[in-house]
Amino acid sequence: MNPNSVEAVAADTDVSIAGAQPWWRSTSIYQVYPRSFADSNGDGIGDLPGAISRLDHLRDLGVGTVWFSPFFASPQRDVGYDVSDYRSVAAEYGTLDDAQRLIDHAHHLGLRVLLDLVLNHTSDQHPWFLESKSSRDNPKADWYVWDDGRTWPLGRRRRPNNWRSELQLPRAWQWSEQREQWYLATFLHFQPDLNWHNPEVRTEMFDMIRSWLERGVDGFRLDIFGSIMHDARLRNNGRRPSLRFGLPRLQDPVRTLNTEECFELATELRAVCDEFDGDRVLLGEVFGSSDVLKRYLRHRGKPGLHLVFAFDFLAAPYRAETLHALIDGYEADYPAPDLPTLVLENHDRTRSLSRLDGDLGKARVMATLLLTLRGVPVIYQGQEIGMANRYIPLAEADDPIPRAVARFVPEALNRRLPERLNRDEVRTPMQWDATPGAGFSDSATPPWLPVHDNHVEVNVESQTGDPDSLLEWYRTLLGLRREHPALHQGDLQLRPIGEERHVIVYERTSGVDRLLVAANLGDETATIDVPTASSILLSSDSAGTVRQGSLSLSAHSAAILTLD
Ligand code: NOJ
Repeated sequence: MNPNSVEAVAADTDVSIAGAQPWWRSTSIYQVYPRSFADSNGDGIGDLPGAISRLDHLRDLGVGTVWFSPFFASPQRDVGYDVSDYRSVAAEYGTLDDAQRLIDHAHHLGLRVLLDLVLNHTSDQHPWFLESKSSRDNPKADWYVWDDGRTWPLGRRRRPNNWRSELQLPRAWQWSEQREQWYLATFLHFQPDLNWHNPEVRTEMFDMIRSWLERGVDGFRLDIFGSIMHDARLRNNGRRPSLRFGLPRLQDPVRTLNTEECFELATELRAVCDEFDGDRVLLGEVFGSSDVLKRYLRHRGKPGLHLVFAFDFLAAPYRAETLHALIDGYEADYPAPDLPTLVLENHDRTRSLSRLDGDLGKARVMATLLLTLRGVPVIYQGQEIGMANRYIPLAEADDPIPRAVARFVPEALNRRLPERLNRDEVRTPMQWDATPGAGFSDSATPPWLPVHDNHVEVNVESQTGDPDSLLEWYRTLLGLRREHPALHQGDLQLRPIGEERHVIVYERTSGVDRLLVAANLGDETATIDVPTASSILLSSDSAGTVRQGSLSLSAHSAAILTLD
């Protein structure tokens, strides 16, 4: 048995460990954004010793798994999603020993650990890229995607093809004066794409992955996994425009996104993980229709990723009919043994409370759905206390995206876009207490992003033990989720939307454990038919009652009932 594995330590608080099914099927995931989680040395930047000191919060919250956004060596131009050494830790975050202590301590607390792997690209400061761009015939010359491009009349340079970057506006090709060639950069210009068609790259990356698995990590979240295998012949993308999250895509990315080779890569990576007890898990950040996403789970008869992100809840309006349709879709698209993931927030998107107009009743309803639906829920740090977007003018952004967009459309900085363009707003320091540094840091050095003013009221300390707080609501839900097989492994039967059009009702069942979940997303009290032999297990509506087969639930509240 691996000495770092969770089984090897006594503290077993995770239902997922005790059960017969693989641990990841019943887990819940908490995303830590290390730069903003806890600063132990007062430099204004979160770090690994800080994270270690705050892991108790996750154990007390009751999640099963912690996913750390990247903490590898990096120039931090995209907060660690620009790696300059996958095998070491960024100096401002700590050392490799700290990373090992983090993994071991999490295991000691009964938490599983996922690291965030950015396989598509490195930083342009990675020694591999510096070497690769130094000439056309160095040992790493083919580790990135280089091409001469074409030449217009009068000698003007022309890109190799029509590929656009993920942000759509800039093209995906950048010119290197040094090598006098174009290199591919699917995301931002300082993030050159690795050439995964080169077997040396594959070997090195797989070895690096093995080295972290040997350190005991339980798996990985895979950054923009669907972009890794572009068309080796560099053929043009389709010209048909499309929409993603309400934002325009200017082309149909048939040659750059979700290619057959990407599905194959998922199976190869799975084989690497399965070398380790068959117990490690892969969670892909992939985008596309559910038919496409499911191809990452198995391909040509071989297992692939264990889970893929489904981001629909992140973008969906707070509307019963819309959410009902999503749940229905997940049940149809991910029948057991497949499992959807459920996400309300992450470090790239608007805080859910801000999308819910700051309404805590609505936040409780959404938390109830998140933690009682069939699937693996993912909670972003601060979501459990209701952290909100902290306005930061786009022109002051640390986030590279607004700056990249401004190069092409300067007026975009003044426009109101469907989603906040400045991701800094959702990355402000974790709010632990009411002190000036919010408990994130106790030094006078300003944190790398400003603390939200509302930390005086909205923080872990003030909500702990307050039965009306959002934090205690999350704790209670997570506790029920662990306790009830119906919630962490049961089937789900969704009731059709009835006359009460603002209400979502479903049953969760595992053997004799039977629960009913009801959520009222409307502005009026709703009356819901329930079996006569049912009683309220939990309700966010203190006035809610069950009488003679009828549950009354006031506006924006949710309840869980036991069915006898
Ligand atoms: C997706 C990550 O979530 C985001 O934060 C990052 O900027 C891009 N991938 C590029 O790695």
